Amino acid sequence: MALNAKSPTMKQAADISDNGFFMQDILSVRQFNPENLTYIFHVADEMRTLVKRFGSADLLSGYLLANLFYEPSTRTASSFMAAMMRLGGSVIPINEVHYSSVSKGESLPDTIRTLESYADIIVLRHPEVGAAQIAADYASKPIINAGDGVGEHPTQALLDLYTIHRELGQLDGLKVAMVGDLKNGRTVHSLTRLLSRYNVEFYFVSPDILKLPPEMVAEVRARGHKAHEVEDVREVIAAVDVLYVTRVQKERFHDLAEYDRVKNHYIINPELMALAQERMALMHPLPRVGEISYGVDGDPRAAYFRQMENGMFIRMALLAAVLGKA
Ligand code: NCD
Repeated sequence: MALNAKSPTMKQAADISDNGFFMQDILSVRQFNPENLTYIFHVADEMRTLVKRFGSADLLSGYLLANLFYEPSTRTASSFMAAMMRLGGSVIPINEVHYSSVSKGESLPDTIRTLESYADIIVLRHPEVGAAQIAADYASKPIINAGDGVGEHPTQALLDLYTIHRELGQLDGLKVAMVGDLKNGRTVHSLTRLLSRYNVEFYFVSPDILKLPPEMVAEVRARGHKAHEVEDVREVIAAVDVLYVTRVQKERFHDLAEYDRVKNHYIINPELMALAQERMALMHPLPRVGEISYGVDGDPRAAYFRQMENGMFIRMALLAAVLGKA
């Protein structure tokens, strides 16, 4: 992971740990490899124990995170805040940026330069693909991409992979179905890329207009994976180990009539779950807007709330690793 290393302050330099994440920007899942994933999952396990036993620690005491969100977020924003605060650090939260100078026309680089003069690390969510890379090009402090438009959402993919591993005890040899808005869903893009490092068979389940971009299907096949594109979830539900369901991304549609036509295409309910294997994981990055009925929540295979909780432990691990304290 040699990409975009930032120079540490003298205080941080004293703490250098060779964990592969130290002072790195986290922009894309392409930066991860099986070794540093194993490492971060191990640290996330330790963070879980730490929170269950003590609630918090002072590992990042004195450090400041700027949480800069140009798009709405509940889980990602609050789990980064909770992660930083449980490690003893502090947060500058900036949400739905019309409160700050971006609405007065300030450019992203200037906003980043401003925040990095106060904070040690910046988490950025932005509606444009590549925004996190632009921020990283200008910043001398580490940038974590918390979603750049339809591009990537690397920390979500980390927590998704960690969840699959915890739920099923393996990553190799799995059959994984991605369901819903595969065209616009950045969580699908990042998780598909990350899973293609493992021996996984893919099922891409979507209506025709929401198919995974062809170059991504080609990328997956070029890595030697079987990848099936289907429209009907009933065709695959009995076969898969993971059913990763996503919301149709309304905010990416220019034509809302088109959104209305596809928004209720998939609804996972107890009747469909009756067709699934006894040992499998039903996942969703959340928020759900009807794709999984509430009647499924009590099913032991419904992993989405555990998945959400895992997000905080993964983000604690990542913040500690990037700041050299893991
Ligand atoms: C996802 C996102 O923002 O891409 N949410 C999240 O971070 N958990 C998925 C979505 O909004 O549908």
